[in-house]
Amino acid sequence: MIRMTKLVAMLAFVTGAAHAQQDPVELGKKLTTNNCAVCHTFGKGEPNGQGPNLFGIIGRPLASESGFKYSAGMKAAATGKVWDEKLLDAWLTDTQSVAPGNAMTYFEGDEARRQKIIAYLRTLH
Ligand code: HEC
Repeated sequence: MIRMTKLVAMLAFVTGAAHAQQDPVELGKKLTTNNCAVCHTFGKGEPNGQGPNLFGIIGRPLASESGFKYSAGMKAAATGKVWDEKLLDAWLTDTQSVAPGNAMTYFEGDEARRQKIIAYLRTLH
């Protein structure tokens, strides 16, 4: 009986750990911290870096973060567009396909990683 209890506890621990590892939002947060935070901040009201603050990016019009000096290419591409998951996916795959001449020198070629990054960005509201 004691053995059984131990086994159940161990199983619960193992599945719990596996779940934490696979949580796309947690993984996305890690990827975002490692890959975007050198240039971007993510908290509400945090200052812009080399890139604009990304709090609330999903649902925000392109190139609309106040106080950030966007490139001409970025401003030209804005034209009333709003960031959604699909546009962010295209952006992270190849920023130049969304805003030719923009100044962000980063891309993420791995679709699964892009999806995790976007899952995390979705939580920033
Ligand atoms: C080397 C610096 C750098 C890195 C790394 C970087 N960015 Fe950027 N990002 C920029 C710059 C600079 C701009 C503004 C581009 C412009 O004005 O042309 C930008 C713009 C953006 C925008 C458009 C914001 C708006 O207000 O319209 C999004 C979205 C974005 N970045 C997401 C990301 C994500 C997500 C990552 C990580 C996966 C990332 N960036 C990594 C520099 C960077």
